[in-house]
Amino acid sequence: MTRRLAADGAGIAQAADILRGGGLVAFGTETVYGLGADATNAHAVARIFAAKQRPAFNPLISHFPDAASAFVHAHADARAHRLAQRFWPGPLTLVLPRTADCAICDLAGAGLPSVAVRVPAGDVARALLAAAGVPVAAPSANPSGGVSPSRAEHVLDGLEGRIDAVLDSGPCAVGIESTIVDLTGPHPVLLRPGGIPIEALREICPDITLPHDSSDARPAAPGRLSSHYAPTLPVRLGAVSVAPDEALLAFGPELPGSSLTWNLSPGEKLEEAAARLFAGLRFLDMEGRRRGLRAIAVQPVPTHGLGAAIADRLSRAACPRT
Ligand code: TXA
Ligand code: MG
Repeated sequence: MTRRLAADGAGIAQAADILRGGGLVAFGTETVYGLGADATNAHAVARIFAAKQRPAFNPLISHFPDAASAFVHAHADARAHRLAQRFWPGPLTLVLPRTADCAICDLAGAGLPSVAVRVPAGDVARALLAAAGVPVAAPSANPSGGVSPSRAEHVLDGLEGRIDAVLDSGPCAVGIESTIVDLTGPHPVLLRPGGIPIEALREICPDITLPHDSSDARPAAPGRLSSHYAPTLPVRLGAVSVAPDEALLAFGPELPGSSLTWNLSPGEKLEEAAARLFAGLRFLDMEGRRRGLRAIAVQPVPTHGLGAAIADRLSRAACPRT
C-alpha cells in the first residue's frame, strides 16, 4: 500500500519517519518528484533500484536541506561554493569528490569516487530533508526509462504499491530535471542540461564545457541511456505537418489538422513549456493510445535557455527503444 501524505507538518513528519526507518517516500521538488530513501542505508537504496527497475550502474543524486550539510559528504572547491551560493536551493546538481566523512553508500554512488549532490528549492522538500536529517538519495519517481513525474498522480500511475508513501506538494514548478555539472576535473563539464540554463552557468563558470566538446575523455553522466523519458507511442521530432493518426505536442501556433493536441506554450515561453512537458507527454500517450493513434508528432522548440533541456528530453523520448 502506498500512502498519500498531505504536505503539512504531520505529513512531512511521517514522511521523514519513513525515510529514517529505511522506507521509500516520493516527494515533490521544484524539478520533478523524486523517489527518496536514506542514502546512507544500502538496503533502503537497494529498494529504490528494485521499485524503479533501474540498472544498478546508474548512480543517484543525494539531496540536502542546505549547502553546509551537502558539503560534509562532497568536497567543495571555490567553484562549487560559488555555484552553490548562486543557484542553491535550485535545479543544479554538482558532481564532486567524496569527502573522507562521506556517508553516502556505495550503491547510491555506484561505486564511483565522486558523488552527486543537490539542494532542491521548495519549502516542502527542504522541510522534509531537514526533518529526515540524513542525505536523501532520489532519482525521478518513475519506472526506469519512462516519463518523469511532475505531479503526485504521475508517481502513483507508475509506482503505486511499490513504494511506502508519496508526499503530495502539488505540481512541480520547473518541471524538468536539474542541470548536472561535473566539478571533478580542471574544467566544469555539463553532464545533463536541465533547469538552470548553461547561459546562466557561464556567468559563474566561463570555462564550462559540454562532454562532447571537452578534450578529456570522461564519459557523460553514467547511465544516461539514450532511450529515456519514453512514452509508449513513438515520438517524431521536428514536425512541420501532422498526420491524421498522430497526436500533436505543439509549441506556439499549432499545426493544423490534429485531432489531439497538447500545447506546451501557446505564447512560446520556454519556462511554461518545461513545466508542461512531462504532463503533456503523459497525456498524449494515454489519450492517443485510447483513440488508436499511432505516434506523437512534436513541433520544433527553440534550443536556447531552458530549450536545451527540453530538446534533450525530447530527443531521448524519440530514441529507438531497446
Ligand atoms: O532534478 C533532478 O535531478 C531529479 C530530482 C528528483 O532531484 N533527480 C533526477 O535523478 O533526475 P535521476 O536519477 O533521474 O538522474 C540522476 C543523474 C543520472 O543521469 C546519473 O547518471 C547522474 O545523475 N549521476 C549521479 N551521480 C553521478 C556521479 N557521481 N557522476 C556522474 N553522474 C552522476
Ligand atoms: Mg530520471
